[in-house]
Amino acid sequence: MGMVSEIREVIAERGLGILDPWIGSDGKKKEVLAVLLAGRNLLLEGPPGVGKTLLAKSVAGSLPDIQANDCSFNCDPERADCPQCRAGSRAVVTVHGAKRFVRVQGSPELSAEDLVGDIDPVLAMRYGGFDLRVFSPGRIIKANRQVLFVDEINRMSEKIQNTLLQVLQEGEMTIGNFDVHFQIDTLFISTMNESELAGIETLSEALKDRLERVTIPYPTEEDELAILEKYGRSVVAVPDEITRRIVRACQRTRQDKDVAFAASPRATLAIYELCQSFAGLRGAQEASLEDVRSAMDVALSGRLSLSAAGDEYAETGAYITKLKEML
Ligand SMILES: Nc1ncnc2c1ncn2[C@@H]1O[C@H](COP(=O)(O)OP(=O)(O)OP(=O)(O)O)[C@@H](O)[C@H]1O
Ligand SMILES: [Mg+2]
Ligand SMILES: [Zn+2]
Repeated sequence: MGMVSEIREVIAERGLGILDPWIGSDGKKKEVLAVLLAGRNLLLEGPPGVGKTLLAKSVAGSLPDIQANDCSFNCDPERADCPQCRAGSRAVVTVHGAKRFVRVQGSPELSAEDLVGDIDPVLAMRYGGFDLRVFSPGRIIKANRQVLFVDEINRMSEKIQNTLLQVLQEGEMTIGNFDVHFQIDTLFISTMNESELAGIETLSEALKDRLERVTIPYPTEEDELAILEKYGRSVVAVPDEITRRIVRACQRTRQDKDVAFAASPRATLAIYELCQSFAGLRGAQEASLEDVRSAMDVALSGRLSLSAAGDEYAETGAYITKLKEML
């Protein structure tokens, strides 16, 4: 069964529930699942730390376990047909749903060899340059029968974007000398930060036209409280009122035009956990606002940055002081 049929079955069975680890609106969950149901390529666009990776991992986590040959292509044992399997028999392994996830970090340095594969020179001497056994497979190939997660896709060079395109579009690729056609069956999920935060590289028009873009917003106040409850480590009690103030302080930075890099939900989680450490260090059973202020200094000083700060550290420090006063 192909990946698209697999995910369709899972969605038919569990509906929006497959995205339960991600806390957010049903509307967004529907957009994500609609793209997968249609068998199209997904682009999650949003600020850092809003759960894009978590969403993609939830999709993989919902997939059933499969039997696969222990080769780079994860061949189906029933119809194994890759160069490695053809060269000799392979052990059969069980791949758990959550492990059916291959991550590629987009960067300008990423090469076609990393992505698609390379020729092993030693094997090429032995078998000759046109024998498929000399080919050492790259990340895309390992994503066969798995989720292919491309983080920060916009940071890849245009050349690599085009290579990726060819695979997405035709499900096949050509490598060096070889006129080979590997059908890669994958669920494609990519991410990109909001444009104003992105680096110089952007998405090529051709790639843009082949991705369905779902924007992932910052969580609402209630959702962010739920994120802290579900994922925040809890060793010392944090009164509800204080938790809410932590969330509000972080949310404030996201609305502020002076802030270039706002406090992400990751920062909220950090403050929530650090304030408990500060409480613990003074032997208290419960975190206080003062503990939150100490936590904010640690958690925000390296994260926040202002849009037009002259002396960056001095001004960011002053901004954090203001946030702490408003707490
Ligand atoms: N909407 C959300 N639901 C559940 N957890 C969330 C949500 N947003 C953020 N988190 C939590 O915040 C942390 C960061 O999430 P994640 O790594 O998935 O974000 P991201 O968008 O991929 O970030 P980046 O852009 O930096 O790669 C995780 O611990 C995750 O549990
Ligand atoms: Mg991520
Ligand atoms: Zn194989």
